[in-house]
Amino acid sequence: MTASISTIMASLAKCSQPGSGVTRLPFTDQHRQANAMITALMEKAGLHVSLDDAGTLVGRRQGPEGAPTLLMGSHQDSVRNGGRFDGAMGIILPILALTDLKDIELPFAVEVLAFPDEEGVRFPTTLIGSRAIAGSFDMDVLSYHDADGISLRQAMQSFGLKPDNIPQLDRRNSRILGFVEVHIEQGPILEDMNMPVGIVTSIAGVDRFTISITGVANHAGTIPMEKRKDALVAASEMVLAVNRLATESNGGKATVGQLGVFPNAVNVIPGQVDMTLDIRFDNDASRDQLGEDITTAMVAIAAEHGTEIVITKTYSQAVTPCDAVFREKLAEASRQVQPETIELSSGAFHDASAMADLCSVGMLFVRCREGISHHPDEMVEEEDMARAVEVLKRFLLDLDPDN
Ligand code: GLV
Ligand code: MN
Ligand code: MN
Repeated sequence: MTASISTIMASLAKCSQPGSGVTRLPFTDQHRQANAMITALMEKAGLHVSLDDAGTLVGRRQGPEGAPTLLMGSHQDSVRNGGRFDGAMGIILPILALTDLKDIELPFAVEVLAFPDEEGVRFPTTLIGSRAIAGSFDMDVLSYHDADGISLRQAMQSFGLKPDNIPQLDRRNSRILGFVEVHIEQGPILEDMNMPVGIVTSIAGVDRFTISITGVANHAGTIPMEKRKDALVAASEMVLAVNRLATESNGGKATVGQLGVFPNAVNVIPGQVDMTLDIRFDNDASRDQLGEDITTAMVAIAAEHGTEIVITKTYSQAVTPCDAVFREKLAEASRQVQPETIELSSGAFHDASAMADLCSVGMLFVRCREGISHHPDEMVEEEDMARAVEVLKRFLLDLDPDN
């Protein structure tokens, strides 16, 4: 008996650190376990499987001699205590579509890519595998460290990779038809419109920063309030300013998602706070402006509290438009599972954002229950995943590499 798609997603979700939801970070044992499961599914689809030196698992189906290659796929990693569909579903559904089309000849080669990292949770960078293939990987990020002091280079080497070979993964000189990513919507629009799938028009840009505020750690009982240089009080005002400025920005989103307080003791005035900042907008100029407004406000707040601040931009990603031809072809294919098509933009970013440096990109969103994502309760219904597989099959069967 063939396993349901939900059963496959549940098995893959077991490749996780213990705890609620899925926690699967790049270059870990859980990543290794997930790759083993994905390899087995790829082999069942008749794909030839290899692991590249950036940690992307590649399942290739050969095409006619000299034919171009269509790339598909998504990321294997999750946020901490995340859901089982974000990323992973975009790897599994194309594999299942290709399994169904195993005996049908296509006029192009296809590769399903299981990228190592899209969430950027472990290291202060992201889209490692897709950037390597797109030829836009910055080798300097190999020296970035995770919270345990392990560098990205060390993590990749322990995973059996040779990160110095990453420049060789650049595919800009090969014949690529494009990149198509299936992803959970991570929002409520498709559910509200009663649509199983939707076509993505563009992917939001993002800037990420690390911020370090240094005050003076001292005794909580002896230092008068007016003499303190409390880094956490300054940071708290900054968090409120981030929230206010994004709310006033008319469409921008800004989040402080991580906060480290040092020395983090009940009777010590906080001497240092390290935090992250993530800023999104659907146009680059507005995102730049919001970033400037927020960092200017932070510098002023730091000074008011007699604290020092260091703001470092760790990642930047421009808004990515999806290709008009792919949008039309995905819309045509989706008409076989729903009479109307719907187009929507993505507030999350994706491997497709990086792949756009290499080739045309298209994205298919699949309905998400109650708009919940980055959360253990994230859910996509079996029927919607099955419909998305049908859309992918139609898309693959209709795709003409010469047009
Ligand atoms: C990835 O999920 C992101 O948009 O942060
Ligand atoms: Mn994702
Ligand atoms: Mn995500």
